[in-house]
Amino acid sequence: MRKPFIAGNWKMNNTRAEARELVTALKPLVASVDGVEIAVAPTFTCLQDVAELLKGSNIELSSQNISYAAKGAYTGEISADMLKDVGCSHAIIGHSERRQYFGETDESVSKRVRAALDNGIVPIVCIGESLDEREAGKTFDVVLGQLVNGLSSVKREESATVVIAYEPVWAIGTGKTATPEQAQEVHAAIRAKLAELFGQDNADAIRLQYGGSVKASNARELLGQKDIDGALVGGASLKADDFAAIIKAAVA
Ligand code: 13P
Repeated sequence: MRKPFIAGNWKMNNTRAEARELVTALKPLVASVDGVEIAVAPTFTCLQDVAELLKGSNIELSSQNISYAAKGAYTGEISADMLKDVGCSHAIIGHSERRQYFGETDESVSKRVRAALDNGIVPIVCIGESLDEREAGKTFDVVLGQLVNGLSSVKREESATVVIAYEPVWAIGTGKTATPEQAQEVHAAIRAKLAELFGQDNADAIRLQYGGSVKASNARELLGQKDIDGALVGGASLKADDFAAIIKAAVA
């Protein structure tokens, strides 16, 4: 049985004061929620403040990226060691915004995944097709290609810890959610490919999150699908009430 995993990707939002306010509001709303893994991914500048507030809570801390290099001359990058030092247990890797605006590729994703695993950080690996790709009938080629290449550095025995986030690019921040059936169809294909790569037992253990305009009003139906094991939430994770409602939908 896979434990549902709901993560909030705050993207480039919140000053430290705003981040503290958000997490302070969120904690009591979800403190009694059992059976769901919960994480938030603030910007790098807010990690320390949020980490302090999360101590002793049932909410974990994720970064929004992670360097593939251990240390040294990599201006602007943050290493796995530094992320661990500040309290991160997870790292979002290869988000479509990183691919689209900052030139990240499946190759850099694969290296970042390796760095995370080598340092005991759980990678949340993002994959997803654009609208053009979907309309051209290339959804499965694109998504499964990103999956295979992005996970090329993962060994079978460590694969079960990896989290995959399927985020159709056309559904991110647009209010256009994939229908539960559309999302489930892709999630099922992802799990089948994971079984080819890592064996059925590992594929059955890997959590697959859906991301793209997840809200309190659609979370339950999405999370009710057989291969949807959680959500990676953007906009709605910036409001404590909305994010808490999504978390509760995972066990409803
Ligand atoms: P929205 O929930 O704002 O559509 O963002 C989804 C996302 O990109 C999470 O990583």
